[in-house]
Amino acid sequence: MATQTVATQTDRPTARAAIKARHLRTDRWWVDPLITFIVFSAFVIYGTWAAFDHATVYGNGAPHQWFYSKPYLSPFYSPCFADGCPSDVNWGAVDIWHWLSPALYILIIPLGFRATCYYYRRAYYRAYWFSPPACAVAEPHTKYTGETRFPLLAQNLHRYFWYGSLIVGGVLAYDSVTAFIYTDHGYHFFIGIGSFVLLINTILIWGYLLGCHSCRHITAGRINNFSKHPLRYRWWTLVSKLNHWHRHWAWASLIWIALADLYIRLVSNGTITDVHHIF
Ligand code: FES
Repeated sequence: MATQTVATQTDRPTARAAIKARHLRTDRWWVDPLITFIVFSAFVIYGTWAAFDHATVYGNGAPHQWFYSKPYLSPFYSPCFADGCPSDVNWGAVDIWHWLSPALYILIIPLGFRATCYYYRRAYYRAYWFSPPACAVAEPHTKYTGETRFPLLAQNLHRYFWYGSLIVGGVLAYDSVTAFIYTDHGYHFFIGIGSFVLLINTILIWGYLLGCHSCRHITAGRINNFSKHPLRYRWWTLVSKLNHWHRHWAWASLIWIALADLYIRLVSNGTITDVHHIF
């Protein structure tokens, strides 16, 4: 009896397709990666500066400056949990290294979440590594190992960053509610430009979080029959709608969180005045 050889996944060649032409595109394919490069680099530069700009010492001797202007707290510095944290927004005084900005502890989860996001991966692989720069455009790399080895293997942690980001997103939602409350001799309804800045920030963050591919899998992954799981089907439908616009949520929430930090930073250091009313 003749033996039949069955091709398995491991038999597949690992070399990339040999395309001689520089690219096969007739449109301006480079615009998309160029915009990604500019916007993403601008965010990284601003975010790094903002995260390290914490060391102005208060009169009370606290080692960190938290960008807080009652009732607004910068999303880069939330949750507020270390020395010098204003009592109104204090989640507990954890003794952290004074030379290290508290923003760096806080940003580990959201940055890890964004860095491992399926959409951002596509965007920065194209814009920074040209791997490939765009569809049907030859890449400079001759070898391809995908995300099967360290460090890119760590991209698989995305789902766990998603779990952590739920907590951070919850805290930011709490901040946007308290941005409408002024506590001085009781509770007062407060409405200001910063209240809306933080509210929009929360909406964009949650639109981004809930449209995540991992969230889509969590809601209805491994289900064979939707009719037996109507609730999960409903969640999946909603998440899928958000997922359709995921890249838009990703960029809008990224840009807005930087703008929100900048706004509260400028209000808290007296550079600009927030227009508001206390009822
Ligand atoms: S895939 Fe983008 S946040 Fe999960």
